[in-house]
Amino acid sequence: MSQNGSNNFVTVRIQRYNPEVDKKPRLQEYQVKLKAGMTVLDALHEIKTHHDGSVTFRRSCRHGICGSCAMNINGRNTLACETPLKDEVDSRGRVTIRPLPYLPVIKDLVVDRTTFWEQYLRVKPWLVPPDNIPEKEFRMSPEEVEALHSAETCIMCGACYSSCTVIGLNKRYIGPHALLKAFLRVLDPRDAAPGERLADIAGADGVYRCHTVFNCIDACPKGLNPTQAIETLRKLAQKRQKFEAARRERQQHLSEPISVK
Ligand code: F3S
Repeated sequence: MSQNGSNNFVTVRIQRYNPEVDKKPRLQEYQVKLKAGMTVLDALHEIKTHHDGSVTFRRSCRHGICGSCAMNINGRNTLACETPLKDEVDSRGRVTIRPLPYLPVIKDLVVDRTTFWEQYLRVKPWLVPPDNIPEKEFRMSPEEVEALHSAETCIMCGACYSSCTVIGLNKRYIGPHALLKAFLRVLDPRDAAPGERLADIAGADGVYRCHTVFNCIDACPKGLNPTQAIETLRKLAQKRQKFEAARRERQQHLSEPISVK
């Protein structure tokens, strides 16, 4: 598994770069003993604890929920905490870890996500409730819940955003993460601003800027499909007024029982 003569060691190559002192990034190698069930994040912890405390990376939950440990492993954006180390070892016994592409490096594997969050806020990711909020609960049909379900499981890790080549060329593009959130709000029968949202995302930096590259689907560690969400938003933007009228009508009945077929 490794070139050092042992089958139990993996050569973990980490991109090191501190913009304050380094002229350019370099790969630094560490030998890590492969243990049963070890993830790439475990290997990074091992390196930081026992080899080199200066190696810098983000992590938090270790369970694929917080999205902090998204990075580029062997050329693919994914979550380090959900990636078994042994699955990534190449024929030369190496695993190569780099920061998420297209984002400025703060240090080593930590990137500056400012544009990512700015674009997220741009789509107003919060729910805009109707004036006539039901006294009890909103009643949504199983079909309405199902339509939102997958988009709701996005953990905002940034893997899709930094895999999109359009982002690489143009940071004004809203991006798959924020458009998936816009999809979630537009499709939500409780939201009272679908027309305004559709008008916003049909602008120059929105859904028509997507070139259907599909990288966002490949990168998503949760198996979501931002491309399909963007395509749905394109179609809805073309019939925005009709969609708005249907939403107004739907919101007259938000507190009524739903008949389950
Ligand atoms: Fe980018 Fe995904 Fe569109 S990778 S170009 S947002 S299909």
